Amino acid sequence: MHYDTRTNKHGLAHDPFKALIVPRPLGWISTLSTKGALNLAPYSFFNAVSDRPKMVMFSSVGKKDSLINIEETGEFVCSIVSSTLREAMNMSSAPVNRHVDEFALSGVTPAASFYVKPPRVAEAPAALECRCWKIEPLPVPEGATEPSYWMVLGEVVGIYIDEAYITNGMFDLAMVQPLARLGYMDYSVVNAGSMFTLNRPKLKDGGESASLIPGPWDGSYR
Ligand SMILES: Cc1cc2nc3c(=O)[nH]c(=O)nc-3n(C[C@H](O)[C@H](O)[C@H](O)COP(=O)(O)O)c2cc1C
Repeated sequence: MHYDTRTNKHGLAHDPFKALIVPRPLGWISTLSTKGALNLAPYSFFNAVSDRPKMVMFSSVGKKDSLINIEETGEFVCSIVSSTLREAMNMSSAPVNRHVDEFALSGVTPAASFYVKPPRVAEAPAALECRCWKIEPLPVPEGATEPSYWMVLGEVVGIYIDEAYITNGMFDLAMVQPLARLGYMDYSVVNAGSMFTLNRPKLKDGGESASLIPGPWDGSYR
């Protein structure tokens, strides 16, 4: 099958777009309003976009509380969602009124950040402290008069890692078991059974060809 996304007539039970780009990491975004109201919500249109400087993005359909708070204060924190936090993460997505604190609603604990005012989720294995770099409206959809989505790009100015999740100098993903979003209402978990290593190909003959390197990681990024 093939279809034109401007009409979006795919003929399927549900729009397949989000099921095609999987798994998507979750940014559990915490913010503060200028009045000091705490806010927490998960975003799966979320990813790292650069590591020099370290930058992340998320996008909001409509001007939700997280976006409004970032417009006001320029700061946010992305806590990493482990599998054990799935219910709290889901509860924090409830579209409650702006003054409602989703930390309390979902039963997680705010812990002070180092470089920004919004707290991280204390129960999360890691968190990225971010300063907003840019908020960019995405293109106005066919037939609409204003954008549906706003993309927030933030520079990661500080990183918290719970040292219980560091093994042999590495963030132990088999222990963290990060949650990821699939399509529809489905999720996936990274765990020891779903992880494997591939070394990058090694160039040969001055770049004319390349060879694969089997076995465990040889320690090179190439
Ligand atoms: C796993 C998950 C991922 C989500 N991803 C997004 C997203 O990428 N963009 C978005 O606008 N809403 C997303 N939502 C919905 C928001 O979390 C929800 O609308 C929430 O109430 C927004 O909170 P806020 O108004 O406090 O920012 C997601 C919800 C869940 C459960």
